[in-house]
Amino acid sequence: MKALVVGSGGREHTLAWSLLRSPKITEVVCVPGNGGTASLPHCRNLAMNANDFEGIARFALVNNLELVVVGPEQPLAEGITDYLQGQGLKVFGPCQAGAQIEASKAWAKALMVEAGIPTARAAVFEDEAAALAYLEQQGAPIVVKADGLAAGKGVTVAHTLEEATQAVTEAFSGKFGAAGNQVVIEEFMTGQEASVLAVTDGQTIRPLVPAQDHKAIGEGDTGPNTGGMGAYAPTPVLSAALMERVQQQVLEPAIATLRRRGIDYRGVLYAGLMITPAGEPKVVEFNCRFGDPETQAVLPLLETPLDEVILACIEGRLESLDLQWQAGAAACVVVAAEGYPDKFPKGMAIEGLDDAAATGALVFHSGTRRKGDSVVADGGRVLGVTGLGDTFEGAIANAYTAIDKICFEGMYYRRDIGYRVKGLS
Ligand SMILES: Nc1ncnc2c1ncn2[C@@H]1O[C@H](COP(=O)(O)OP(=O)(O)O)[C@@H](O)[C@H]1O
Ligand SMILES: [Mg+2]
Repeated sequence: MKALVVGSGGREHTLAWSLLRSPKITEVVCVPGNGGTASLPHCRNLAMNANDFEGIARFALVNNLELVVVGPEQPLAEGITDYLQGQGLKVFGPCQAGAQIEASKAWAKALMVEAGIPTARAAVFEDEAAALAYLEQQGAPIVVKADGLAAGKGVTVAHTLEEATQAVTEAFSGKFGAAGNQVVIEEFMTGQEASVLAVTDGQTIRPLVPAQDHKAIGEGDTGPNTGGMGAYAPTPVLSAALMERVQQQVLEPAIATLRRRGIDYRGVLYAGLMITPAGEPKVVEFNCRFGDPETQAVLPLLETPLDEVILACIEGRLESLDLQWQAGAAACVVVAAEGYPDKFPKGMAIEGLDDAAATGALVFHSGTRRKGDSVVADGGRVLGVTGLGDTFEGAIANAYTAIDKICFEGMYYRRDIGYRVKGLS
């Protein structure tokens, strides 16, 4: 079988790599892909916009690419699944109605309340004056969220009323476009964050191994937030008992409530969780797709061929599939361009990729492109280097040993990825 992967980041390189580990997958085409997917054996890139649904459908049909796996949220929210399915393709990723769970935080919050899923208390506003009055009444700390997709920039965790007020004013002044037409204001939660990515066929929902990521740019989790500077799995923060609670209190009620609303949700449901000091899992948000960089740490541990998991979801057979996992741990360290998450340069030649891969680590590309025979940086997050090991210590050491072989001008990475779990496995 041949597959098409939509997207261009580290997550998509990992999806392509993971699919190609299956004996049944003979070829993968990435739209538009990156320097990593261009260099992966049996994989090639197609220079087409991820939002060109018609072009993607035509290409997939003409070239017998039976299976389409969608990486990013934007095309899912715009209905890529509904469109491609209508053209007779098998698509992994929820329908447009289901993608609302990520594309509208107000919609997701209402679903959680209806489903009885533990989450931060919240109120939704379409009017600035009412939102500001609510802030005055609640006080700080408090969290202000633009309702729609905002590329990870729509949330302010406000420690003072001034910060909160500014966030509300900015959202209503159009900083996030239509994404800020509604604002969700919610209770500030404390605890440790963790991510449970689950796969579902709309009836059965099965968690993948739980992960944690590092969002902040600086060591010790300081400084501005990024798309993610590293991730590791399986995190011991989510014990087997807690995972069971997540299954019963979060994943199953979410799918049941979607179904009750007439939404046949098939794909990844990603629960971003806060594990409170009392040890309770509360939902921070849902995403409708694989996480980046969590995917780079989770999928290398999956022993069941990814295409089998995906087809079981699409065809409604997940109940009879057991997910098998490799023992041990994985840690992904993101290597970024100097200046990220603000302005950063592009085009720097990257050296040492083969030497890095020779250490046994997996070098996934996030923002790169092929230029002749070399690979150059082409994004803020450039690479995601995943180390594997029997323990977290081993996995983390493997990732850093590989990174030591890599060189490009201004490369930046955190040296403390996984500090919370070092020595825990
Ligand atoms: N209610 C909350 N309490 C404390 N921190 C929060 C809360 N909601 C969000 N955050 C923090 O803000 C980050 C981004 O919020 P999230 O809802 O995940 O939005 P997005 O990923 O779309 O930007 C979270 O990862 C978390 O660190
Ligand atoms: Mg988030």
